[in-house]
Amino acid sequence: MLRSGFLTSFELTPELPGDKSITHRALILGGLAHGETTVLDANSGADCRATLTALKQLGVHITEVDARTIRLAGMSGGFVSPQGPLDLGNSGTALRLLLGALAAQPFSVTLTGDASLQRRPVERVLAPLRAMGATATAENDRPPVTLTGGRLHGVDHDLDVPSAQVKSALLLAGVQARGQTRIGGIAGTRDHTERLLPLFGAQLTVNETWVATRGPSKLTGTTIQVPRDISAGVFYLAAAAIRPGARVTLEQIGLNPTRIKVLQAMKSMGLQMDATPASRQSTEPFGTVVATGGPLRGIHLSGPDIPYLIDELPALAVMAAFATGRTTIRGAAELRVKESNRLEAMAEGLNAIGANVTLEPDGWTIEGSAGEPLSGGNVRSRGDHRIAMALLMAGLHCRNGVEITDEPLIETSDPYFSANLARLLGEA
Ligand code: S3P
Repeated sequence: MLRSGFLTSFELTPELPGDKSITHRALILGGLAHGETTVLDANSGADCRATLTALKQLGVHITEVDARTIRLAGMSGGFVSPQGPLDLGNSGTALRLLLGALAAQPFSVTLTGDASLQRRPVERVLAPLRAMGATATAENDRPPVTLTGGRLHGVDHDLDVPSAQVKSALLLAGVQARGQTRIGGIAGTRDHTERLLPLFGAQLTVNETWVATRGPSKLTGTTIQVPRDISAGVFYLAAAAIRPGARVTLEQIGLNPTRIKVLQAMKSMGLQMDATPASRQSTEPFGTVVATGGPLRGIHLSGPDIPYLIDELPALAVMAAFATGRTTIRGAAELRVKESNRLEAMAEGLNAIGANVTLEPDGWTIEGSAGEPLSGGNVRSRGDHRIAMALLMAGLHCRNGVEITDEPLIETSDPYFSANLARLLGEA
C-alpha cells in the first residue's frame, strides 16, 4: 500500500511523464494519417497504452522505439475492423476521442472499459456523432458503446458542457466528414487538438468560442514533440506549497495557456513561483517552473475559470486544507463524473486526515489549518489516480502521514510518481 509521511523540508526535480492529453491525440492522429508519425516524449501510463492497444487492434503498426518514443505507420484514413471490443481501461479520453475517430469508419465496433469507465457519460459525444450520420447506442448513457460508422456530413454543434474530449471527438469525426463541422461553446477547453490538426495538414478556423473544420482532409504523418504533463506536475507544486521552504522544479513542463490557470490560482494562494518559457518554442508552449512554499491563503474559484483547471482541483483542495482562511470552489459538478466522484472522494479523504471540508453540490467549502499540520491517517483513492496523488501529497504535512488503503492506480497517468515519492521520503 502506498503511503507518505511528514517531511520538514525538501527539494525535488521530479521525473515527469509526457502530457497525457497530447499523447492520446498524437497517437490517434498518427494512426489515422498517411505515412509515418513519431511521437517524442509520449506519456507511457496505462491510459495512453490503452489507446495504443486499441490502435493496434485497428490495424496500426506501432514501434515502441524506447519508453518515451513511439512510431506509428498510419492507416491512410482507413482503420481495419477490429476483432472483438476495444477495451479502453480507465481512460475517458481514449474512449471519447476514439468514438470520434471511428465514427467515419465503415464498420461496427464496441468500445468499453473498466468499472470506472462504465460509469462515465457518453451521450454528450454520441448525440452529435449521430447527427453527423453515425449509429451509436449505449444503455443509460454509459459504456459499452456500440458504434457503426460510415459516411459523415458536417454539423453545427454547441457543446452542452465545456469538454475538450467532446470537442476533439467531433473534430476527429469532422476532418473525415463531408462539409463543415463547427463546434461552439468551447471556451475553457484545452486546445491541443486545434494545435495538432494543422500539423497533420487539416484546415481549421479557431476563435475563443468556436472551432470549425472543412472535411474531408488528407492527414499526413509528422513528428510531434510532447511537453511534460502540467497536470502531473501540480501535485509536486501542491507539496511544495504546503511545506514552507520546500522547493520544486518542473522541467520541460507544458505551459499551454489553456492549461496554466492552475499556476495562477496557486500563485493567488501564495505559492512563490516563476515560470520561464523555453527559448526555443514548438506548437505547444513549454518551459521551466520553479516553486517555493510559503504561507497560503484561501481562494474563491468558480464560473468560467473552472473548466481550465478541472483536473487540478484535487491538488488545489490540498493546498486549501492548509491555507489560512476559507476556500470556496463552485461550478465544478463535472468532478462527479471523472474517474471517480472527485467531489466526494476529496471531501472524504481530506476530512479523514483531519481537514475541514464541506461537500457542496458543485464544489467544496474548505476551512484551512493556517499552516498547521493535519493528523493524517488512512484514506481511500477510489481507484482514481488524481485522488491518490493529491492525498499522498497532503500526507507530507500530516503528523501521522497518509496511507492509501485501496489500489491507487497512479500508473494510469504517471508511471514515475511512486519513484518520485520514494525519493522524497528518502526511500530510494
Ligand atoms: C481531457 C479533457 C478533460 C479532462 C481530461 C482530459 C482531454 O475532460 O478532465 O482529464 O484530454 O481532452 P473533459 O473533456 O470531459 O472536460
